[in-house]
Amino acid sequence: MKLLTKAVKGTVDLLPEEASKFRFVEALISDIANTFGYREIMLPVFEHTELFARSVGETSDVVTKEMYTFNDKSDRSLTLRPEGTAGVMRAFLEHGLFNQILPEKYFYNITCYRYERPQTGRLREFHQFGVECLGAEDVSADAEIISLANSIFDYFDIEDIELRINSIGCSDCRPNYKKALVEYFEKHIDSLCDDCKTRLDKNPLRILDCKNHECEKLVKDAPKITDYLCEKCKTDLSSLERYLQNMEIDYIIDSSIVRGLDYYNGVVFEFVSGEIGAKSTVLGGGRYDSLSCAIGDKQIPALGFAMGMERFLLLLKENKFEIPKEDECDLFIAYIGEEPKAFAIKLANDFRGQGISTQIDLNARALKGQMKLAYKIEAKNLLVIGEDEIKQGKATIKNIQTKEEREVAFHNILSEAMDIL
Ligand code: HAM
Repeated sequence: MKLLTKAVKGTVDLLPEEASKFRFVEALISDIANTFGYREIMLPVFEHTELFARSVGETSDVVTKEMYTFNDKSDRSLTLRPEGTAGVMRAFLEHGLFNQILPEKYFYNITCYRYERPQTGRLREFHQFGVECLGAEDVSADAEIISLANSIFDYFDIEDIELRINSIGCSDCRPNYKKALVEYFEKHIDSLCDDCKTRLDKNPLRILDCKNHECEKLVKDAPKITDYLCEKCKTDLSSLERYLQNMEIDYIIDSSIVRGLDYYNGVVFEFVSGEIGAKSTVLGGGRYDSLSCAIGDKQIPALGFAMGMERFLLLLKENKFEIPKEDECDLFIAYIGEEPKAFAIKLANDFRGQGISTQIDLNARALKGQMKLAYKIEAKNLLVIGEDEIKQGKATIKNIQTKEEREVAFHNILSEAMDIL
């Protein structure tokens, strides 16, 4: 019989120690988002395939190559979310959340699914921390959201991280830029990969983030969006620069940042680090003012970002950020004999009821085996109950580290123990 003990390629198990670190970091980041007025939103793992096709874009790599799509038993085409933004906008529109004073600010901690080639920091099931600010038009929103992202890296003292910003233009200026791109790439059409030949027709901007080596070489000399921006997009970008300078947030303008998803317009940004293999994007985002119109019938200016948690945790490791170990066991109750065992089981429950994490042996081991277990789980205190203790109505709680001992009477053990545990 074939053993079924191997996880699916591109997925990872987070064993308890890793899981607790992960949750610790996630909670800190969520707290930072709270200080900027973001509240958590929790959405389904799968959505109608059409939602991602129309928002992330029919020509993006995510939609054409990477989605986990399946038909359910009623023959609906569904897709495991490859990202969080489309679902958030869908929920915002579905629940009529635009009928109030805006913006609405949401954050999420989610799993995402993309069929990519797994490598360090790239998985098929991965985690994102993301924020979306819906109903904010002014550039101050772009500045605020970038400063939120920046605060996360600051808080964790991440050193080798670079903020890159760009504008990818709006519906006024982008058509001219697209035209210039088509003219340029048509001259080099023979060197383009097959995918990019199709992209040239359908969405030439997507050629700019093609990973094919030959295409990448061509992209280096392609026209730059910054030379085609309209007055509004130029002014927005320079206002953003002023706000960032004012907040003393370092950045560089990088016209090669185009983002891989189709819903963006205007300001886009990425936080890039050289510490996870090749220069790699840990966090990316920007404005997506037309997404609401692509999937609904409302015009909602919006922006956001998402950060890959696996990549962020790799960065924390590189930067030697100390994640405290979880305290797992305040008290271990060992027993000798049947009556003490029943007593210990009841007592353990009473302690747990008081919020004290308490463990007892579940394998009916002799005292020596129970002690080994207490040391293995790094219990902080030990209480041994035998026939004598039951008879005398008292026992000794020992602090395993300091060796300090204190006698406690069973009739008020909970309140007495509270002082020492
Ligand atoms: P994205 O750039 O596709 O943007 O993904 C954001 C981050 O998710 C990346 O910077 C990276 O850290 C992480 N990531 C992406 N793919 C993988 C993978 N296969 N394995 C591990 N980590 C990965 C978005 O998803 C947009 N929804 C961001 C956004 C929110 N824009 C506006 N609002």
